[in-house]
Formats: sequence, structure tokens, C-alpha cells
Amino acid sequence: MSGRIIAAAVSIVITSLYGCSQSPVTNSNDIVFPDSLVSYQKHVKPFLNLRCGQCHSDSYAAGGIRLTQYSYLLFDKPNLIVPGKPDESLVNQVLERIIAHQAGRMETIPSNQINGMRTWVTEGALNN
Ligand code: HEC
Repeated sequence: MSGRIIAAAVSIVITSLYGCSQSPVTNSNDIVFPDSLVSYQKHVKPFLNLRCGQCHSDSYAAGGIRLTQYSYLLFDKPNLIVPGKPDESLVNQVLERIIAHQAGRMETIPSNQINGMRTWVTEGALNN
């Protein structure tokens, strides 16, 4: 019985994952954040994977931090993302250069993406 429930849950998860993956973005410069209603799936996740993923990957996890999945953003390190509070979120602080970070690739991040990440956190950092 519980096996069937788990199987059903797994198939729902797989369906929703594939449902969201039409035309995946492969170039980080192609990600354009809207002024409001920022989406984790459409904007935040590809942004973090493409900009930060080579170090904050599942296997390398620089600084013990993975930025590849929603749950990691909330639990890999305290205050990585604090929903509703970008000023307290380490990810925003790194992007806005409020705290030091050793990654050289931060140089080229456009303000649309930096501001978009702030908007996403301000809007509650939803898994949307
Ligand atoms: C070239 C590798 C590299 C890249 C690319 C990289 N990081 Fe990091 N990151 C690290 C390392 C190493 C640490 C741990 C040491 C440190 O804090 O500098 C770290 C630490 C952090 C921390 C914790 C900082 C703290 O003070 O607690 C955050 C947040 C973070 N990175 C966010 C990001 C974000 C967001 C991106 C993409 C925009 C990114 N990183 C890209 C290597 C990288």
C-alpha cells in the first residue's frame, strides 16, 4: 500500500520535473528576470546552475554549499536564502558584493540578474 503511494508520488515528481524542462537555457546571458513574479524554475535555478554551478555543484560543493536544488538553498548553510529578506541572505550578499567571495566569475553578472535574485527572495523565495 505505502509502496503504491510512494510510486505515485515519484511519478508526480518526475512528471513535474519534465514538465518544467521544455527548452532548457544553456547560456546564462539568456536568462532575463522579470520585474516581478520571478520564478524559481524559469529564472533562479538556471541562473544558479549556469553562473555558480561549476563550484557549488552536487559533487564539488565549494564551501559546503550546493546551489543546484531548491532545498539546498534553504538548508545547506544557515541564511543562504532567507525568504522575504534579501539583506539577510548570503546569496544576495555575495551577488551584491556586500560580503567577500573568491569566485572570479562574479565580475560579469548583469544587474538584471542580481536585481532579479533580490526580487525572488523579496517575493518569498518560492519554489515556483
Ligand atoms: C570558482 C568557484 C566558485 C564559483 C563560480 C562560485 N563560488 Fe561561491 N564559493 C566558492 C568557495 C570556494 C566558497 C567558500 C569560501 C568563500 O566563502 O569564499 C564559496 C562560498 C559561497 C557562499 C558563502 C559565503 C559566506 O560568507 O558564507 C555563498 C553564499 C556563495 N559562495 C554564493 C555563490 C553564488 C551565488 C555564486 C554564483 C553567482 C557562486 N557562489 C559562484 C566558490 C565559488
